[in-house]
Amino acid sequence: MKKTALTGIKPTGLLHIGNYVGAIKPALELARNYDARYFIADYHALNTMKNPGELRASIREVAAGWLAAGLDPERVIFYRQSAVPETFELASFLTAFASKGLLNRAHAYKAAVQENLDRKADPEAGINMGLFTYPILMAADILLFDADLVPVGKDQVQHVEMAQDIAQAVNFNYQAPLLKVPQAALQEEAAVIPGLDGRKMSKSYGNTLPLFAPENQLRKLIMRIQTNSQGVEEPKDPDTSTLFFLYKLFALPEEQEALAARFREGGLGWGEAKAELFRVMNRELAPLRERFNALAADPARLDAILAAGAEKARGPARSTLGRLRKAAGLDW
Ligand code: TRP
Repeated sequence: MKKTALTGIKPTGLLHIGNYVGAIKPALELARNYDARYFIADYHALNTMKNPGELRASIREVAAGWLAAGLDPERVIFYRQSAVPETFELASFLTAFASKGLLNRAHAYKAAVQENLDRKADPEAGINMGLFTYPILMAADILLFDADLVPVGKDQVQHVEMAQDIAQAVNFNYQAPLLKVPQAALQEEAAVIPGLDGRKMSKSYGNTLPLFAPENQLRKLIMRIQTNSQGVEEPKDPDTSTLFFLYKLFALPEEQEALAARFREGGLGWGEAKAELFRVMNRELAPLRERFNALAADPARLDAILAAGAEKARGPARSTLGRLRKAAGLDW
């Protein structure tokens, strides 16, 4: 039997190159060899997105994005988290096995508290229980499907470790391997994709390259990538250049070597290097952009794909819950 890979993506706005290279691409690569279940984590998004129109639009945007990037819904079970209500019963079940201390140590929660302290506000100001219990809901997403492998970015590894802890607590209590203990699959190389200003590409820094930006906008944004003030003739170091980092993600090995050599020789201006980055990026993204636009124009088709995925996901979900209810003495 094939092993199961599972991951979720939060529908919190426009997909960008960082999402594509760091999450979507490696997950699709993995789906060749695994029994894959990929879903839109819409209940996780509810923590921060309270506007229904925006949330719905983001869900469709992300779903269309994954499909445009090559997800085949015949081979990958692809669904909305909120369409699999078993997730929420499992999350409730798991709260009884997750210690409050464990959740106190979650990086995202600690960072939110620290931010409050820094501005001398109440430590818990603006922190909802959805943020605090985020790792439990994520553990439920994972454990519901006996996932072996969870491809995630660096910032999510701790959450997968918490899912391990919680699964082990359940298994230990009932002295039975009721829940599979998952492993995180960190895509090292792609873990931190730099944005326009060299910091991690992130919506919150406003430094992203949107994945489906029209060609002209993509070109303009690439021209805005920050570089140092070295002149055309000066030799440049490809290994410390944001531009070259991004280039490597889209260029063929021989293209990478050629551009690195031109960096080192000198005589390559930043403008020319940017035009070359645009060329290779657009070469890969143009067909995706086209598929994305077609899907975006047909929400009924999108919704049908997601509904079919949820239907497939619910069978195994029910069986996991049945197993737990029985073990717990809740099975009548
Ligand atoms: N927390 C993940 C993120 O912010 C999204 C997510 C939700 C997820 N549930 C998951 C990822 C389960 C992997 C497995 O990107």
